Amino acid sequence: MSKRLIPPHGGELKELMASGSRVLELKEGSRDWPSWGLTDRQMRDLELLMNGGFSPLAGFMDREDYEGVRDGMRLRDGTLWPIPITLDLPEEVACDLKAGQPLALRDPEGVLLAVLTVGDVWEPDLRDEAQKVYGTTNPDHPGVDYVLHQTNPFFVGGRIEGVQLPVHYDFKRDRHTPRQLREAFARLGWRTGVGFHTRNPMHRAQVELTLRAARKAQANLLINPVVRMTQSGDLDHYTRIRCYEAVLSQYPPFTAKLSLLDMASRLAGPREAIWHAIIRKNHGCTHFIVGQDHASPVTEPGVDGFYGLYEAQELFAEHEEELGITMLPFRMLVYVKEKDQYLPVDEIPEGVTTWSMSATELKVRLDEGREIPDWFTLSDVAKELRRRHPPRARKGFTVFFTGLSGSGKSTIANVLRTKLLEAGGRSVTLLDGDIVRRNLSSELGFSKEHRDLNILRIGFVASEITKGGGIALCAPIAPYAHVRKQNRELVSQYGGYVLVHVSTPLEVCEARDRKGLYAKAKAGIIKEFTGISDPYEVPRDADVVIDTTDLTPEEAAQQVYLFLEKDGYIGPASQ
Ligand code: PPS
Repeated sequence: MSKRLIPPHGGELKELMASGSRVLELKEGSRDWPSWGLTDRQMRDLELLMNGGFSPLAGFMDREDYEGVRDGMRLRDGTLWPIPITLDLPEEVACDLKAGQPLALRDPEGVLLAVLTVGDVWEPDLRDEAQKVYGTTNPDHPGVDYVLHQTNPFFVGGRIEGVQLPVHYDFKRDRHTPRQLREAFARLGWRTGVGFHTRNPMHRAQVELTLRAARKAQANLLINPVVRMTQSGDLDHYTRIRCYEAVLSQYPPFTAKLSLLDMASRLAGPREAIWHAIIRKNHGCTHFIVGQDHASPVTEPGVDGFYGLYEAQELFAEHEEELGITMLPFRMLVYVKEKDQYLPVDEIPEGVTTWSMSATELKVRLDEGREIPDWFTLSDVAKELRRRHPPRARKGFTVFFTGLSGSGKSTIANVLRTKLLEAGGRSVTLLDGDIVRRNLSSELGFSKEHRDLNILRIGFVASEITKGGGIALCAPIAPYAHVRKQNRELVSQYGGYVLVHVSTPLEVCEARDRKGLYAKAKAGIIKEFTGISDPYEVPRDADVVIDTTDLTPEEAAQQVYLFLEKDGYIGPASQ
């Protein structure tokens, strides 16, 4: 490996792969050893441990290193390290482990990736970790939510011997271990490299920022996006990477390279910025860009962020010398119309017109099929975004009706179905309560547990239909708010979701009693009957509320249709 490149953190690249004969020994021995199936987060951490991306770590942290990192960002030998890298296990697995014992670490399919020699096993105080590492215990922070709600209660530290790196099938040409990247730098004659971390597509502002950074450092540029989704709402990596590939043509030849980083971000803001820089240093970068609000969770408009805008830059600056990788701090760039150029906010001349576009506005434009202006992004990037986000009028969606038995859900759904089919353009699938119970959920009864399962199954099918660009109309009672919410979240990842509460009062439903079920329920012949002997939680998040007491089915369906039109789900007849 070239000695002319920056040394890794701690002095040497700590690759943890076992040699050929030892690999055979480990594979053979592992048949009799306890095993652990790694979580997605643990797989990502293990990969970076094994390939040297986490140098100088030699395994998952033991208690002393963990506490040193948590409390003061230091490993026991004094090396700077800001984020705990731990293996969390449930009690039933952890309590049988003894120091010195091997533990086989396997991917979800059971393939042996590495063997951990157990060091110590302990029960951490996870709230304390959240407070010290993230500066908050607020579960709205996705990193904190992970620590508090998705982490197993015991930690196991120990040395790692790697057997095999996880296999990736996507974008192989753009994936590199630290060694491979260092070799590529040497081949290209690069002694300097500016690392750019991102989890979003790159628009003109980011292209300008990276060009400025590389010029300032007189260095080459490594566009080094994270592959994993870090927060729900992030754009999938397949689309993002096609966008990055499109952007590469904007840089002078031989000065920029794209490489994917498959890491599990924590979004820990200031501490995370230092961690990002260490990982980039291990991959051969001499410089690292730290922008505004680096590695922080996105919050709702109007809600304060978890960290100060430039807190990451400040913490980095305190440790820059010791880190040995140079920070390139940046303010936000905005477009200056008169100059047709992006400039940092603190360098804007007086009296000029500035433009910027928020992520929310970009999403609205995509939903409405409106133009994405050239000043904002390259046309090839806009093309990729449009392919991924067709306008609402061409996307799949779900209309989820909820309400009491006899409230009119199925009737409205049926009329709406014919209207949508007449309008044309998309397939329409009706998942009526009765149809689903006959075909999907025939073994289920009406206990809370069975109703929840029934609704989740409907949600799953609706999400698949929506993903495929179709329309799903669901019409079960769905009496419980929490599963309705889960369905909304699931379906919204793929397309539109509209909740219609058919709010016809109980007395009207009872008076209609078309199936004679209310009479039977009142007589105690049918048990757990919604509204009579079982609860119905009135939705507080309904997009449309319809009481059918005095409405014809056509009038009720038209109300839903008009809502769909207003929200852009139905385009003009000419489209
Ligand atoms: S749930 O709660 O959403 O899983 O219910 P769903 O799948 O929509 O099924 C409701 C239909 O089943 C009939 N039925 C009952 N409903 C409520 N409670 C009890 N105990 C019950 N037993 C049978 C009833 O006909 C419902 O149909 P709709 O179309 O709503 O009238």
